[in-house]
Amino acid sequence: MLRANLKNAISEAIRNKFGDIAIPEFSVEIPENPEHGDYATNAALILAHTLKQSPMEIVALLSVELEAKNPELRKIEVVPPGFINFILSDKELLARIEGVLQNPDEWGKSKDGQGKTVMVEYLQLNIAKRPHVGHLRSAVIGDAIKRTLDSQGYHAVSDTHVGDWGTQFGILLWAYKQADKDTKKKIEEDPFSQLEVLYQTANKDENANEFGKAEFAKLEKGDTENRKIWQWMVEISMEKLEESASRLGLLSFDEHKGESSYENDMPAIVTLTLEKGVAKKTEEGAVIVDLENEGLDQAILVKSDGASTYLLRDLATIKYRKEHWNFWKNLYLVDVRQSHHFKQVFRVAELLRFEGVNESEHVEYGFMSLPTGAISTRAGNIISLEAVCDEAIHRAREVIKEKNPDLENANVVAHKVGIGALKYFDLSHNRRSDIIFKWDEALSFEGNTGPYIQYTYARLKSILRKTTDQDVEHSVSNTIGLDSLEHRLVAAGLRLGETIEDALEDFMPNILANYLYNLAKLANEFYHSHPVLQESDPAKKQFRLSLISLVALTLAKGLSLLGIDAPEEM
Ligand code: ARG
Repeated sequence: MLRANLKNAISEAIRNKFGDIAIPEFSVEIPENPEHGDYATNAALILAHTLKQSPMEIVALLSVELEAKNPELRKIEVVPPGFINFILSDKELLARIEGVLQNPDEWGKSKDGQGKTVMVEYLQLNIAKRPHVGHLRSAVIGDAIKRTLDSQGYHAVSDTHVGDWGTQFGILLWAYKQADKDTKKKIEEDPFSQLEVLYQTANKDENANEFGKAEFAKLEKGDTENRKIWQWMVEISMEKLEESASRLGLLSFDEHKGESSYENDMPAIVTLTLEKGVAKKTEEGAVIVDLENEGLDQAILVKSDGASTYLLRDLATIKYRKEHWNFWKNLYLVDVRQSHHFKQVFRVAELLRFEGVNESEHVEYGFMSLPTGAISTRAGNIISLEAVCDEAIHRAREVIKEKNPDLENANVVAHKVGIGALKYFDLSHNRRSDIIFKWDEALSFEGNTGPYIQYTYARLKSILRKTTDQDVEHSVSNTIGLDSLEHRLVAAGLRLGETIEDALEDFMPNILANYLYNLAKLANEFYHSHPVLQESDPAKKQFRLSLISLVALTLAKGLSLLGIDAPEEM
């Protein structure tokens, strides 16, 4: 009986004791102090308000009822001012382990999301600009959310919403067109990096914006030469995007829509805003929605030179996504600096009565900065994603060389550990916090890190590799008694499903990451204090092996939802 069952059992006990009342929302949580049991509920405290009765009276009635009807509970404790703590029976835990191990592929999966499509937008690279460390968070968090949604039966659709439209491309076009022969030749040889250099140099020119606007206006109006150059730049940049995505081991994208793909949808939206009186035309010819009264400033849809804006493209995007995918939710993994932008987008879309606005959410995240000097020398002042990955893998290889010099496939493992460390560092923090990435911390084999969890997994696997065939018969005797640590470890290992549910509630992968860390910590404690292979009682040995299988399976599944590979040896 895990959380959901326990919740049902409590509701049923309430109905049996207090009749068919509307049951208020109550919680079932894991007590911080493990001595207080596997779960605790505040149901009686909440009911006390509804029933105008003392919580301790309610608790007394409920606990007797729960005890009588639920043999899966070993112990029910009443704690003033009105909490109830539950300890699950060992028998129940043992039966559950067996259930998981008989069907390992299904572990952690559910059908909760069946029939629901969720758009997840992340890794929104901009054309001709190198993917940098700022894109890492979007990519890593977005990918983890997509994987987790998939595991619960949702139809998660990923999109990159590539930045390929706007004045900045006008600047690039302008710079490219006036580049001399030598520069053009260099660009041909190494297009991606050279375009970036070109863009950066052009931006230093005080006329860049003006000329850029003019070139972009031409592009938007369909100028053949500009279109051709632009198309070529998009292609080069998409290759780069694919390269970064595969380096990071991201799932492949379902959509590769660029902002430009909404080009044809924009005019109708502008007309609509004007017709509905939502927007007005200024004397200079711009189209704006005045949101000053709501503290959201002016939302500009069309600039005075007639060019479309980023905001207008986002309006077209919501409309497209709702019409094309009929999403249940539409998520944008974008850093917190754009929260004002998304407030404007959602508000204007609401004024236009677009469908899907209330289901659209800016899943924002804070900054990740690297300690200064760390790898900045390699790529000028922007730290490229590539350099961060290289560094992570290089450092992982060094650590492995020291810890396990004879390891086979050391390079493959270093890749998994390095990229895993990078991802885990990001994912283990609350996405809303600003974080400073620290190499030593992220790559340490101790503490709340990716390598620690991977290492724990590899250790558990190495025990399992040493077992003989007769050991791994997966029926667990349900009569053996568990000691307190064993009991806690089983209960913790079985919580994967409910942790995933919690992590998805507000799209917080850190909930899953921290669960895995606590599970790994407990597993290490167990491993150091309990013999497994040396255990002489066969039933106990069998149980401990099953427990280790459960924990290893749970760690690997959980890591995979975070997009992290777990090497079998490291
Ligand atoms: N490319 C944009 C930028 O670099 C981010 C895009 C965010 N997504 C969106 N739908 N607006 O700022």
